[in-house]
Amino acid sequence: MFRRSCMLAAAMIGLAAGSADADIVTLNSVSDNTMWQNATGGISNGAGESMFVGTNDLGIIRRALVRFDTSAIPAGSVVTAVQVKMYMSRTTAPTTPVTVHRALAMWGEGNSNAQGGEGGGAVAVTNDATWTHRLHPLFPWSTAGGDFVATPSATLDVGGIATYTWTSAQLVADVQAWIDAPATNFGWILRGNEAQPHTAKRFNAREAGGAVPQLIITFTPGAASGACCLPDTSCQVLSPAACASAGGTYQGTGVPCGPNTCVGAIGACCLPDGSCSVQTQADCTNQGGVYKGNGTTCTAGLCPVSLTPFVDALPLPGVAQPTQGQPGGAATYDVPILRVRQQLHRDLPPTVVYGYYGQYPAPTIEATRGLPVNVIYRNELRDEQGNYLTTHDLDVETCMHGPAERGTAPATVTHIHGGRVDSISDGQPELTQLPGQSSPVYVYPNNQDPATIWYHDHALGTTRLNVYMGLAGFYLIRDAQEQALGLPSGAYEVPLAIQDRSFAADGSLRYPAMGQGDDHYFGDTMLVNGKVWPYMEVRRGKYRFRMLNGCNSRTLTLALSDGQPMWRIGTEGGLLAAPVEVTSITISPGERADMVIDFGALDPGTEVLLVNSAPAPFPGTPGVGVIPNVMKFVVQEETGSPGALPQTLRTITPIPEASAARTRTFMLERMNHPCMGFMWTINGLMWDDITEFPRFNDVEIWSFINNSGVVHPMHLHLVQFQVLDTQDCTIVNGVVTPVGPRVPPPPEEAGWKDTVRAMPFQITRVIARFDGFGGTYPYHCHILEHEDHEMMRQFRVTCWVDIVGQPRDTVKPYNGTASFFADATGAGTLTYEWRKGTQVLSNGVTPQGSTISGATTFNLRITGLRPEDAGGYRCIVRDACGPITSRTATLTVFPTCDPDFNDDGNSDQDDVAYLVNAIAGGENPNNRDLDFNRDGNVDQDDVGALVNVIAGGGCP
Ligand code: C2O
Ligand code: CU
Ligand code: CU
Repeated sequence: MFRRSCMLAAAMIGLAAGSADADIVTLNSVSDNTMWQNATGGISNGAGESMFVGTNDLGIIRRALVRFDTSAIPAGSVVTAVQVKMYMSRTTAPTTPVTVHRALAMWGEGNSNAQGGEGGGAVAVTNDATWTHRLHPLFPWSTAGGDFVATPSATLDVGGIATYTWTSAQLVADVQAWIDAPATNFGWILRGNEAQPHTAKRFNAREAGGAVPQLIITFTPGAASGACCLPDTSCQVLSPAACASAGGTYQGTGVPCGPNTCVGAIGACCLPDGSCSVQTQADCTNQGGVYKGNGTTCTAGLCPVSLTPFVDALPLPGVAQPTQGQPGGAATYDVPILRVRQQLHRDLPPTVVYGYYGQYPAPTIEATRGLPVNVIYRNELRDEQGNYLTTHDLDVETCMHGPAERGTAPATVTHIHGGRVDSISDGQPELTQLPGQSSPVYVYPNNQDPATIWYHDHALGTTRLNVYMGLAGFYLIRDAQEQALGLPSGAYEVPLAIQDRSFAADGSLRYPAMGQGDDHYFGDTMLVNGKVWPYMEVRRGKYRFRMLNGCNSRTLTLALSDGQPMWRIGTEGGLLAAPVEVTSITISPGERADMVIDFGALDPGTEVLLVNSAPAPFPGTPGVGVIPNVMKFVVQEETGSPGALPQTLRTITPIPEASAARTRTFMLERMNHPCMGFMWTINGLMWDDITEFPRFNDVEIWSFINNSGVVHPMHLHLVQFQVLDTQDCTIVNGVVTPVGPRVPPPPEEAGWKDTVRAMPFQITRVIARFDGFGGTYPYHCHILEHEDHEMMRQFRVTCWVDIVGQPRDTVKPYNGTASFFADATGAGTLTYEWRKGTQVLSNGVTPQGSTISGATTFNLRITGLRPEDAGGYRCIVRDACGPITSRTATLTVFPTCDPDFNDDGNSDQDDVAYLVNAIAGGENPNNRDLDFNRDGNVDQDDVGALVNVIAGGGCP
């Protein structure tokens, strides 16, 4: 479509002064657009030549948006008159008022471009304002159709085709406000008759090439003025002369007073809207704020935003949809990681979050034991203009490893917590993806017990920030055996991701800036499944709640407010042996509790709270740092799932302590760090120091000794373990002295776990078998602030066998013998085989479970070579440890024949005699192929061919 861009560039046309010191400027619009009333927000007309208001013949409402850049008018100017001029180019409707409203949020103009008369609009593209998005599709309008001041700034009757000019005192006030605070200039929304169809009015947009929207402003230029710091440290905008005569210090022309930067008695002020600004005590109290003291700064959490609990219904995460296969089956998922706005509480503006599939928490991945799932994660984090993010939304500490190497861009890498997967698919913290990049295909075989596992971000040095922004979701593995237990299911099975967060008044997530971070981060607000203090309507019956402590640092001790019991039926690695009745459970970050709660005996209307009593930090003084409420259950009339709980759930076989090949000891403590100030360490070592090499299939005891005052929830990747016991100890100058008995875990924790709370001054022993896969895996404290500050290291499961060297390529003659040798080292249980293509060669196979020791040769011998034997031969060694090791060598059979039938070293008449005799049914002691000319028959022409070769002819 034709567009005259020279008109766009001519943003300001200066005009002669009207009176002695009044100026007039005419501004052309710098952006304009139309929004079509439509639930998906899919229609716009950013680059089109027209804008529309009113209701069309189909009853669809349209609103126009227009914005002018007023920055050319000097600060301090006083606006005296304003005209908004628009050319109305087409209508069939009667005269109808068109109102101009001041917009309250920034919106965009993309490249959508409607055809013809443009009345139908075009498909909205990135940046287009639409009915439901102010910057398509990332930022929703909080009210569909746009955020604007309800009272019009101006109203004008629009009849036939003509130029129309709106003027009013409020338009003057709007423009004055934009000059005084340019960040509030979001332009205007124009509305026509929205009550009746057939009322459409079409106006020229800035792309029209003529009669474009214009704003004509008459103003008195401001005298030179700027911030003046008065003797009492308050600030006033004054002229330099007035400032001097008031005894103040002039800060420069155009310097604003908000925030008050006058040195002296200033401090943080918590304003009534929950925001914080640094100013004088006088200014603060004038605005109804609470002054936090001289010298205080606006740190996170200083001015809590107070939100009403239990006003939003508990959201249920959706089920992730694969690109191939079905949820719950063998399937392939393509998971975009998006930056979106999501409403986390009724009274909060939408919050910028990061979400898998653009959702916080992520949709649940449903899997079935034995049916593999493939996943690709794509980092699609973009800013409001649609460009890939180059900096994280939260402050990144660049002196920490991870960000030190890759900078502040929000790199992501996804870990499947509790998953038994190869190390490439595990989400190795250093193998991150930057915005615009994709992970490799991760393979989750699901060869493991049904369990509540989860996926979350694990980027080295920024896990705490990425998870805080929302990158976490459930991954549920099921099987027929668990299904057969008849546990509450369907609507009665509910995942609960419990997380603490803090908010600023604008809805944004608050997290301490670099250098202000303590060694924990505790929010002041609790969210479940991404809503602040939600409520859930429950039927009278049993529910299965899969609870996840998804907090960064906060431990939870959960109970019901009416004191009624709950049943714990599972831990991280799946079901317990039997349900255990409890009145409370404690779970630290990373731990899961599969719980059954029975609302069956409660009267309809009863309200029961899920409450928390764990102090923060944990353990600690009761009541300190506690967020007491988690969520509310409201009992309904209907009966729910009444079935009895099974007495037993499954068999859990303890790993015998005596089967352990070795015990490793880990001291958990805080140390100094040259750049971060401090760090948390495991045996005083760091991420790159690998000192644990469990051998594949070995059982090991890992003993965590906590030499600090706070819990460290220790998590091992790859394996599920059992807790052997905990024991008090004293630690003096590094010498650990156990005190008192070893205490076995309580029954509700006597199952398979992947995360265990190592409590202060205790020895916590767990036992695990390191099988499934060989390779390198992290283990760490799941307090994400600790994990990011070095309390994360790696173990490497070492395999048993490897092929060393390369079998040699071989060239052998027709009917000869070839041998291949593959040298291997190692010790243990293995299988090897030789293959040609897909065919397994029987003389090169060891039986399954053969044992080798030290250096070994796997050989393959092929006799009586034929041309078709030529090709690649592959030796494959399989050890229980994972990837197949293989080597290939090539055999060439050169095209000759062997006339020396009797093997006496000469080709002569006695070879002919050998063949003649053998054809006649005589002996064939050398086991020669008598079909010398290879025509399929053994007969006289084979003798002829042999005679010919002996006489010096070529091989057949
Ligand atoms: Cu849930 Cu290594 O993490
Ligand atoms: Cu994990
Ligand atoms: Cu820790």
